[in-house]
This record gives sequence, structure tokens and C-alpha cells, in this order.
Amino acid sequence: MILKPQRDLFDLPPEVSYFNCAYLSPQLRAVTQAGHKAMATKASPWTVTVEDFFDTSERVRQRFASLVGTGADNIALLPSVSYGIGTAAANLPVKRGDRIVLLEEQFPSNVYPWRRLAADVGAQIVAAPRGHGGWTESVLDALVPGVAVAALPACHWTDGSSVGLEAISQRCRQIGAALVLDLTQSLGAAPFDVAQVDPDFMVAASYKWLLGPYGSALMYVAPRHHDGRPLEEGWIVREQSENFAGLVDYKDGYQPGARRYDVGQRSNFALMPMVAAALEQLLDWGVNNIAQTLAATTSQIEARVMELGFEVAGPRLGHMMGLRAPGGLPQDLSKTLQEQGVYVSVRGDAIRVSPHLYTTPSDVDRLGSALQSAMKR
Ligand SMILES: Cc1ncc(COP(=O)(O)O)c(C=O)c1O
Repeated sequence: MILKPQRDLFDLPPEVSYFNCAYLSPQLRAVTQAGHKAMATKASPWTVTVEDFFDTSERVRQRFASLVGTGADNIALLPSVSYGIGTAAANLPVKRGDRIVLLEEQFPSNVYPWRRLAADVGAQIVAAPRGHGGWTESVLDALVPGVAVAALPACHWTDGSSVGLEAISQRCRQIGAALVLDLTQSLGAAPFDVAQVDPDFMVAASYKWLLGPYGSALMYVAPRHHDGRPLEEGWIVREQSENFAGLVDYKDGYQPGARRYDVGQRSNFALMPMVAAALEQLLDWGVNNIAQTLAATTSQIEARVMELGFEVAGPRLGHMMGLRAPGGLPQDLSKTLQEQGVYVSVRGDAIRVSPHLYTTPSDVDRLGSALQSAMKR
């Protein structure tokens, strides 16, 4: 179902045409309100109960789990993608001579932990090139026996070009490689089902397509890794931590499932209600509906920019796109567009255009006109 524009749920002034959700999403009014209320919580600490350390965290876990078709026990609450990939790298067996497959020019949070691990154990990083047939074929070619981990997104962060995770997951299973996903640039705007892809670890930051605050990320951990080693040894992830009076009766066991991987102070009173409110709205719209609506918006943009001579990177997921100009891009393009109220990112040689449900037909017109005049300069 195509959803009608939801601009009134956000705080966007009419003079701003914001095509930069892949950078920082605008905030839903409901999320800002949840944040104001949450910020006041600690001003009256006598109202904070033991349950408050657990209930909102569990609500967030449950909502994120519903978004990806799994149970709350498989979800951990983190501060960042780097933290999640660090956790995966610390828990997967990689030995000397093994390979770790990434994409060329992948986002660094899903690169540096693997480079560190590879240097520590004597493994090798293989960056699959952007092939003519798209990323999927090129990753499948790289997935040969001897690969220990494929650490990938569902689309390239610079231009939304897609990575076929179902086929890749199947190949990973055939060769015994683990699959680690950073879905920051797609989750919430493109459907993803844990049961179909079966990743070992999957993490996404809250502040882009999940429409949440900065400083939060959520991670799915497959049950086969629930006995792993967390990066920290926090007290609240230990068995019976609900009993504050008994905390020095130290426990060897953890809270069930993926909770052992939660970051310290994961109950974060100021942020977690915002994460919960954003996930509630996404579930209410439905990710399939969001995806269909954004695909329609980006198709309209595609038709307009192709008339202007841009090439659109493909095959791509529906929610975002990268525009390349055969003669290259003018200097200061983002600044020139901003002067006309149009916000995009330039990443490498591509203009990254990432709308959301606040995007209206007049935003699309403004983008087309602004690009047309900027390219003439
Ligand atoms: C693909 C991708 N992953 C992760 C991040 C953020 O990583 P972190 O949470 O480690 O700051 C970004 C931010 O732009 C991103 O585009």
C-alpha cells in the first residue's frame, strides 16, 4: 500500500526539502515528545523504579524483534554499529589464512573491526568489487571455501545499490562462512526477515531509517551465538539483576538470549523511550508500505533526473539512490542545492538522494529544478 505523505508528523519547515535520511533522519514529533518527557525523568529520581531499568528496554527489544520477524530474546541494545561489529568480530572463529569478505568502499564501522581481527590472526580481507552485474554476483564470486566471514550491508551506503542477501546467505551456509550484516542504510525502509536470511549477527543504527535518536543501535544475534562473550561484563545483564538488594551475590549466569551483549547502562532513560516511540510508528506504518511508498518516490525522482542526463546506480533498493553525472559533479554541489532548500549528501562521485514519508511531490519538483540549475553553472 502506498502511504500518503506524513509530513505533519515531522517538524520540517516548508522551505526545507530534505533528501538526506541516509545521513540523519528528521525526528518524528512523537519521538521528540518522548525525548522531552524522558529527559525529565532523572530530574525526579524518586519516581524511577527498578522496573524502569527493564521495561522500556524490553519494549524496544520486542518492537525491533517484530520489525525483523524474530523474538525479543534475540535482540541486544547497543550504542553504535561499531560496537555490534566489534562484538561479532570477538565471537566468530577466524584463523590464520582465512578470508573475510566485504564490499569495496563499505562503511568503515563494518571494515575496521575486521581489519584489526585480520591483522591479529593473519587472515585476509577481500573487498568484492562493484561488478557490472551488481554487487550480488561479485560477492558470490568471492565466497569460496576458506572464507570465514562475509560482513555486508543490504545496499551500498553511498548509492543504495543492492546486495542480494538471500543468495549470499545460502552460499555462506554451503561454504561454512558466518554472515554479519550492517543494515543501517536499509532497515526500517526495506523489508528484512531474519528467517529468510539467517544472519549470525545483524546490527542497525537507530538514527537513520529507524527514525530514532543518535547514540543507539540494535542487534540481532542468532541463537547459536547466545553463549558468546560480550565486550563488557555489565551487572544488569547478569542473572537476577532485577534484585538490586542482591547484586553483590555475584552470578556466573547471564540474562537469557542476546541480552548478555547489551552495552553498560543500556536502560538509558533519556534515549530508550525515543527509540521505542520511533519503532512503534514504523510498525504502525508497516515496513512493506514504507518501502513501496519510497520506491514510488524514488522512481519519480529517477524519471526526472534521467531527463537531466544523470545516471542512476543500480540495481538498487527502492528507498534511496545515487546519481552520477557523466561529466562529474560541480564543486560545492551540496552547498548550491542547500541555497535552494534542497538537502542531499555527496558521497564519492554520487549524489545520494534519500527521501522518506515526509517527502511531497513539491519536494521532488524542487529537487529537479535545483539539480537542473546547479548542473548548468
Ligand atoms: C552503513 C552505515 N553503518 C553504520 C553507520 C554508523 O556507524 P556507527 O554507529 O558505528 O557510528 C553509518 C553512518 O553513516 C552507515 O552509513
